[in-house]
Amino acid sequence: MNQRPIIALDFSSWQEVETFMQRFPEDEKLFVKIGMELFYQEGPVIVRWLKDAGHDVFLDLKLHDIPNTVEKAMQGLAKLGVDLTCVHAAGGVRMMEAAMRGLNAGTPEGKKRPLLLAITQLTSTSEEEMHQDQLIEVPLEESVIHYANCAKKAGLDGVVSSALEVQAIKQQAGDNFVCLTPGIRPEGTVAGDQTRIVTPAQAKEIGSTFIVVGRPITQAQDPYQAYQTIKAEWSQSNEY
Ligand code: C5P
Repeated sequence: MNQRPIIALDFSSWQEVETFMQRFPEDEKLFVKIGMELFYQEGPVIVRWLKDAGHDVFLDLKLHDIPNTVEKAMQGLAKLGVDLTCVHAAGGVRMMEAAMRGLNAGTPEGKKRPLLLAITQLTSTSEEEMHQDQLIEVPLEESVIHYANCAKKAGLDGVVSSALEVQAIKQQAGDNFVCLTPGIRPEGTVAGDQTRIVTPAQAKEIGSTFIVVGRPITQAQDPYQAYQTIKAEWSQSNEY
């Protein structure tokens, strides 16, 4: 659906972001992801700076707290004008409903409410770790689908999952349910701490709505070139 891969700006300072953005043409409008690392250092002003420069922003703070706290936090985030944000599905249906209420209440009049997604299982979590650390005994895919159903029940727009689970999620939640998938690695790049990974082309074929790519772009010798290659692979029609 979205032609641009979302670039994870996993940097810890504004300076690093600026240096990175200088590698891109000024008129290239990007879809970027700001996570906790950057947000906790630089705060809301960096979100406004990126929005003012014409970029779309996914504010990835993965909220997980009591419903009232999440509702109030989301109310504030909506005022920043971000395009996408997320909570942990593990916070429960009531918490997710509260998050949506907060976003609706905080979105300025005439503006579009940010899309709200739920994190299912992190793409760095292996099935074994899920069993051991979370004491969830069902297979990982079942846990992901369960969380997706909870998110749908709470009225969220979609989920964040590995691309490997997209088909099963869409079967349950419908084709319009947004599936945003990190854990993307082009052929020949390093997996790092990610365990459930696919290539951009595979993500496209499987039906991801958005892909998030971090290190394969941010750590590349030529980030713009890496971005272009991934974008081309992601946005091409499914011909194979
Ligand atoms: O560098 P890499 O491409 O692995 O970055 C993936 C990004 O997606 C990171 O910012 C990470 O926090 C985020 N993410 C993830 N798995 C999730 C949700 C978000 O890897 N389930």
